[in-house]
Amino acid sequence: MKLKPEEFATLASYIYKICGLSIGNEKQYLIEQRLFKLAKTAGGGSFQGLIDKLIMNADSRLRDEVIEAMTTNETSFFRDGHPFETFREALLPALEQMIIQRKKNAVQRRGAKVRIWSAAASTGQEAYSLAMLIHEHVKANGHKGIALEDFDILATDISSSVLAQAINGCYSDMEIARGLSLERRAKYFAKTTDGWEASNELRSIIEFRRINITEPFASLGGFDVILCRNILIYFDDDTKRKIMRQMHQLLSPEGYLMLGACENVQGMGVDFESMTHKNTILHRARKAPGSGPIFAVKR
Ligand SMILES: C[S@@+](CC[C@H](N)C(=O)[O-])C[C@H]1O[C@@H](n2cnc3c(N)ncnc32)[C@H](O)[C@@H]1O
Repeated sequence: MKLKPEEFATLASYIYKICGLSIGNEKQYLIEQRLFKLAKTAGGGSFQGLIDKLIMNADSRLRDEVIEAMTTNETSFFRDGHPFETFREALLPALEQMIIQRKKNAVQRRGAKVRIWSAAASTGQEAYSLAMLIHEHVKANGHKGIALEDFDILATDISSSVLAQAINGCYSDMEIARGLSLERRAKYFAKTTDGWEASNELRSIIEFRRINITEPFASLGGFDVILCRNILIYFDDDTKRKIMRQMHQLLSPEGYLMLGACENVQGMGVDFESMTHKNTILHRARKAPGSGPIFAVKR
């Protein structure tokens, strides 16, 4: 079963429309490989059959299966190391000050909570890694008047299957071995028959939601830290600009944006101030005076 050029063009533009993934001509093989099974089963043995079902029948279950097949969900605990070192060393002390200040000012409207968004969370390791660092920071600094419940992590992804695993917080031996120390494994995970399950304490500060970040997301409200790592690389400039514009809007003036190692804010038409901590680049949203967020702040 070979993918014809016109079928490739139709499927590439369909995939772009449903999840923003930009697949150039040189990546024809990607669609051919990843949609082969669906073309065989749902498409009755041809890519044209699959296209007919997707486009003519507007089959939403099948659309989700295409998303599942086309997205790359690679992730691990404490992926790349240094961004989490930066979170621990530079961001957590700043977030702690934010909480103390907000509590002192009794900011009723916004509350004292710090909101963190893992915007393409995949199976959840990024969010659980942050939760472990927060837990450790709170344990060491609780006497300053901060608590675990002062932090909220929102972990989102477009793929339902990876989100299901993230919600369950269950990982195989192999997944656990990727990036997690034995010490943290013992502290935060319980052994199950076929793997490891995250503790309720970690789960208590993470909320999981299905969000397509190529669609408007301003209604999510304001954030103090946004991690949008290893996802922009799959999008074209137009889509990246739309995402960056909204993240700029949602980031609190004292907040930070963290992207993946190969991703940056240059040429996105939004005013970020970038700084480096160790090997990690952090971006802060410069806001014109008086240009408050136009979204409803949910805190
Ligand atoms: C390579 S993983 C990155 C996971 C994590 N941020 C990390 O760096 O380890 C990219 C994730 O983005 C998700 N994704 C792809 N397109 C998306 C979209 N339009 N909206 C939200 N998530 C998307 C995929 O399902 C996948 O889980």
